[in-house]
Amino acid sequence: MAYEVLTAFFLEAGFLGVMLFGMNKVGKKLHFAATAMVALGTLVSATWILSVNSWMHTPVGFEMGANGQFLPGPSWWDIVFNPSFPYRLLHTVTASYLTVALVVGGVGAWHLMKDRTNIHARKMFSMAMWMAALVAPTQIFVGDMHGLNTLEHQPAKVMAMEGHFDSHPEGAPLILFGIPNSAEKRIDYALEIPKASSLILKHDHDAPMAGLDTIPDENEPPVGIVFWSFRIMISIGFAMLGLGAWSVLARMRGKLYDWTLLHRAALIMAPSGFVAVIAGWITTEVGRQPFVIYGLMRTADAASPLDAPAVAASLLAFVLVYFAVFGVGVWYIMRLMAKVPHAGELDAKHGDTGPIRTAGITPGPTQNPGGKETLPTEAPVEKEPV
Ligand code: HEM
Repeated sequence: MAYEVLTAFFLEAGFLGVMLFGMNKVGKKLHFAATAMVALGTLVSATWILSVNSWMHTPVGFEMGANGQFLPGPSWWDIVFNPSFPYRLLHTVTASYLTVALVVGGVGAWHLMKDRTNIHARKMFSMAMWMAALVAPTQIFVGDMHGLNTLEHQPAKVMAMEGHFDSHPEGAPLILFGIPNSAEKRIDYALEIPKASSLILKHDHDAPMAGLDTIPDENEPPVGIVFWSFRIMISIGFAMLGLGAWSVLARMRGKLYDWTLLHRAALIMAPSGFVAVIAGWITTEVGRQPFVIYGLMRTADAASPLDAPAVAASLLAFVLVYFAVFGVGVWYIMRLMAKVPHAGELDAKHGDTGPIRTAGITPGPTQNPGGKETLPTEAPVEKEPV
């Protein structure tokens, strides 16, 4: 955490204000540089946070102190680059980019549904759909690699994700849907493809796969939650892939900006990345249970030694502060998104009080008889997005 504060926190915090409120106050180049710095800062932040979190899933490079403390071993790099870190970093960072792309796509679609000719809404939509088309399949591929790494280091989590209560010595089925029944240790109403899980996870449809029956009951993660959250994440991943493929088809037919159904789908899917990210984290963290440091320290043993009221008070303070900050942030961003996009992102309040440019005529003063706020009447000519 100290590394994060030192290398990223000030970078993000310092430039965030310029990025959010400085569009009309600093030049375009400085605004772009500030935005790039925020992006870099969040990437560096994510790197450190995910390294710590990954270590708790795949702990290596430490020694046990006499009183049960975890002490760093000879190399910090073993700790930082622990076995699940590269996969988690790639999967989570790709998830954030995809999430943002879907939001931008939804906002672009919303404005296109109101005015198909808006060149800036077209550009937003086009760029977001390129991201969905290219990054969604990448995310599915990275997710698959991540799953293989999890199978190696946290097999019980994968058993819960797959809903495998029983071992399958001759190839395990891929359970698409069903209702986990933890009391009876089976999946009710299972809809499954025989041997497909062995094929995906072991690349051999006859490969034996151990189930939760090989894990002591007290080490079993809560199967129902992990099973469902995993399916929510995967379904959204494939829905994103579908949206990206649909946009490619629309592009090929020259209907990217005219296919209202596609715009509606993009609008509906605008928040889907957030849902997938939360579902992914639930899969990861609930799947780690009952351990806080996998295989070494149980969550129950990591409980705070403070009295419950003290813990509750600080938790309440966190919830209140986060709700307030997050609430204002969401309100501000929703307002930005509702504005019709136009060149230079001028703030409607300040208006463009510069000269109105008319082809072939020397610019004249702005016509503003009622003293009302004005917006640019015509966007500068820009190239049509592909
Ligand atoms: C459809 C293909 C996908 C596959 C195969 C997949 C696979 C996985 C797996 C196996 C995990 C748990 C790994 C562990 O805990 O050790 C995971 C976690 C996660 N997934 Fe996915 N995922 C997919 C799609 C997505 C999408 C579309 C998003 C978000 C846009 C997403 C976001 C996350 C996040 C945030 C986590 C928690 C962090 C982590 O452990 O990496 N996933 N995913």
